[in-house]
Amino acid sequence: MGQYIKNDRKDTKMTAEIIDGKAIAAEMQDEMKIEAESLKREHNLIPGLAVVLLGDNPASRVYVSMKKKACARLGIYSEEYKLASDTSEHDLLKLINKLNSNNKIHGILVQLPLPDYINENKILNTINPSKDVDGFHPVNVGNLVVGKPSFLPCTPYGIQQLLIKSNIQIEGKHVVVVGRSNIVGKPVALILLQKAQYANATVTVCHSRSRNLSYYTKQADILIAAIGRAEMIKKDMVKEGAVVIDVGVNRVDDPSAERGYKLVGDVDFDQVKEVASAITPVPGGVGPMTITMLMHNTIKAAKMRGCNNS
Ligand SMILES: NC(=O)c1ccc[n+]([C@@H]2O[C@H](COP(=O)([O-])OP(=O)(O)OC[C@H]3O[C@@H](n4cnc5c(N)ncnc54)[C@H](OP(=O)(O)O)[C@@H]3O)[C@@H](O)[C@H]2O)c1
Repeated sequence: MGQYIKNDRKDTKMTAEIIDGKAIAAEMQDEMKIEAESLKREHNLIPGLAVVLLGDNPASRVYVSMKKKACARLGIYSEEYKLASDTSEHDLLKLINKLNSNNKIHGILVQLPLPDYINENKILNTINPSKDVDGFHPVNVGNLVVGKPSFLPCTPYGIQQLLIKSNIQIEGKHVVVVGRSNIVGKPVALILLQKAQYANATVTVCHSRSRNLSYYTKQADILIAAIGRAEMIKKDMVKEGAVVIDVGVNRVDDPSAERGYKLVGDVDFDQVKEVASAITPVPGGVGPMTITMLMHNTIKAAKMRGCNNS
């Protein structure tokens, strides 16, 4: 396994190596910063990202501010649009159309979820596919399905990068994904299924109607949990030596924590680390990769457009 694997030898029960998403993300971001500097110096090209936030969902606010900070750190130009929670669908569409024709902006991200009265598909479909750095536009989704170049959704793309950077072989392995959302489960299954380098896995996708879930999870060489249920994957659901990627971010009460809660994944980390060969922690595993891949997609979008920012 790679340099990004860390193991806490003080914990005598632990067998799993810890996949250090924070370190992988930091190194990738360092490389991107250098790339952004050279685009500016050599091509007068500054990648630009617009982030649109509607309403005051506290978690969304935190994500948007993290994205803004990452842009500043990497030398990516960013514009933030904080819209009132009663903004109409018409006004949101108008803003997206404006951003579609703004030469300074190469990537557009509309922070999800949107309020119920707004048709999410209509909004996502209005973003120019060449600026769709979240990879949710049907053109990009379709290109992924048929194996053509596309913008890959950031969290699934980040999971593939975690595996690659940790020297975990994907080809020929049985990947079992628990969760079939359009944001994580389906795209990660498609990415790892591609007839391509760093893919070629045999993929099984499970969901809430799958019967006898552990029958499938126990067959996984690489188990990806994207469920949204705190610590649902237990030790007896995991094959000895499996690689376990935990996408879940769940708040659970913790009176001893300053905020009164702590974040846990979909995997019972303390149990599963005793049987897995490698595992991602929560936080510090998949999470830091999502923003990193957003930055990567923004730089890619800028390079594809190649226009200057004047
Ligand atoms: N770290 C990051 O950057 C990041 C990014 C995105 C999401 N997340 C986290 O990842 C988790 C999943 O996110 P998501 O957007 O994919 O969630 P989602 O849209 O709610 O999808 C959850 C999936 O899990 C399945 N599921 C629910 N209960 C199940 C059960 N008991 N057995 C088997 N499958 C079950 C659902 O099945 P059905 O389809 O049948 O309902 C669904 O496909 C969440 O905790 C989210 O916060 C983290």
